[in-house]
Amino acid sequence: MDNRPIGVFDSGIGGLTIVNALAKILPHEKIIYVGDTARVPYGNKSTERIQQYSEEITRWLIQEECKIVVVACNTASSHALDNLKSKFNIPIIGVIEPGVEASIYATQNNRIGVLGTYGTIRSDAYGQALRRLNKDILVINQACPLFVPLVEEGWVSGEVPETIAKIYLENIVASDVDTLILGCTHYPLLKSTINKIMNIKIKLVDSVDTTASVVQSVINELELYPEKGKSGGIFCHVSDSVDLFESLAGRFLEVHISDLSHIDIF
Ligand code: DGL
Repeated sequence: MDNRPIGVFDSGIGGLTIVNALAKILPHEKIIYVGDTARVPYGNKSTERIQQYSEEITRWLIQEECKIVVVACNTASSHALDNLKSKFNIPIIGVIEPGVEASIYATQNNRIGVLGTYGTIRSDAYGQALRRLNKDILVINQACPLFVPLVEEGWVSGEVPETIAKIYLENIVASDVDTLILGCTHYPLLKSTINKIMNIKIKLVDSVDTTASVVQSVINELELYPEKGKSGGIFCHVSDSVDLFESLAGRFLEVHISDLSHIDIF
């Protein structure tokens, strides 16, 4: 029995998609979310900077007595996960491995596309993890930096996102992939636009549900589940103003936030 919270962090708001999935399958868990809105985006920052930010937030979550930390940001998972695991002594779960497992399961022709921020694509974290499981997998990487601001503007369908997606996806479309990893917190919200441009048979994979399942398995394996009947709740903390976060949160989260406040973590 373990009533301590689950910590989740992201560079900003997008990691709420993971919180959403966690709250659905683990309704009795208390979830503490940190959105580093003062320092977002991580997608164009150096590895050293991303590791420093991730370490600061993880340390803060551990001080808040979190029993598990979920790195809900693809860029932070790509650059900082191993570093975090070597420094902290609690289970730390990233989003790369769960997304990779889902895509290995989905592909039939061993050709997988990966979309992500500049940072995620530069790291080739998805490619390396895919080839570790199957050395014959061909990976086609594509950075899509304009997708994050589009989603935050709520501009997820229509002519503008379609035109941008067409340009980004040109190489992927020509590469005969049968599976496409949406390797960024924000991209699942562009699924229908991406679907329009890709061949209808291509499977779009994201890490949201698979990461939540991994968290559930770790809780079961280590017997970290809370008392039966305990009410959970989502407690959000942001490093910049709460107002913008509050106005955007509904795009990513279908469940109610119990509390939202500002924190200084640096
Ligand atoms: N959360 C980031 C990711 O999943 C996207 C936003 C950013 O660049 O910080 O890669």
